[in-house]
Amino acid sequence: MRERLVISVSGKGGVGKTTTAALLTRIVTEKTKRDLLVVDADPVMNLPRALGIDVPKTVGSIATKLRRDIDEGTYSGEVTKQDVLEGEIYEALIEDPRFDFLAMGRTEGEGCYCYVNRLLTQILDTLSQNYEITLLDMSAGLEHLSRRTNRNVDILIIVVDPSRAAYEAALRIRDLAKEVHIEFKKIVVIGNRFPPEIEADLRSQLEIEGLDLIGMIPNDDELSKVNYRGVPLFELDEESPAVKAVDQIAEKLGLLGEVTLLKLLGQE
Ligand SMILES: Nc1ncnc2c1ncn2[C@@H]1O[C@H](COP(=O)(O)OP(=O)(O)OP(=O)(O)O)[C@@H](O)[C@H]1O
Ligand SMILES: [Mg+2]
Repeated sequence: MRERLVISVSGKGGVGKTTTAALLTRIVTEKTKRDLLVVDADPVMNLPRALGIDVPKTVGSIATKLRRDIDEGTYSGEVTKQDVLEGEIYEALIEDPRFDFLAMGRTEGEGCYCYVNRLLTQILDTLSQNYEITLLDMSAGLEHLSRRTNRNVDILIIVVDPSRAAYEAALRIRDLAKEVHIEFKKIVVIGNRFPPEIEADLRSQLEIEGLDLIGMIPNDDELSKVNYRGVPLFELDEESPAVKAVDQIAEKLGLLGEVTLLKLLGQE
């Protein structure tokens, strides 16, 4: 059976989650033929620009409509709600030649979306079965962890920048993920924009916490320029430090070569 990997990128606000997700997308699509589903799970939706794609429809807008139809009684109920959602979500799926893309967007309105959210989680779980790699760019808050929108995550990537708040958020994310029983197989940390002289310190602190520092992305002026111009990260020079760093990280995560998840976990 082909391997299915679900990878989620978490961390405090502004630490570089979207940048990491976009660069991983670029590396995987450029270097492999693996089927990739990229999910923007952050309602703010920065990932489409970083990838250079347009998003006409989000899952959130579809769920909002379904909820409204249920509330107003216009939902006929002839087809199950799950079927309605499933069908519409396939419509929201963007099929770029390089990867498929789904934006979660936001759900509008008051009250509990528990039912619709539960359906969405199920549908996403099913959808991700069709891809070798599902990559989720998460929002900065921690609510998604308690809502378990990213359950069954294989690799939980936590990005930290050189700030105490980012470090503490990383530990909190780790603890929360365990508390709510998200069944991740591996947790790794990526340090973004660290001055080289504090890298060793970060590594040893994380080691004490039992967390693996899988790589560092240096501060990259070329990335700033591209980002300032609003140009997709696919256009960043392949020799730029951030691209090279994420390339190495992708390799270590076993996304490029023959390395399997079992190998990654040291079970093979
Ligand atoms: N290594 C880097 N070199 C230069 N600029 C960077 C680097 N990493 C991130 N940035 C810039 O920092 C800003 C924040 O990065 P990014 O959007 O990836 O963070 P985020 O964690 O996704 O933020 P949010 O919590 O708002 O979703 C962006 O403008 C991005 O271009
Ligand atoms: Mg982001």
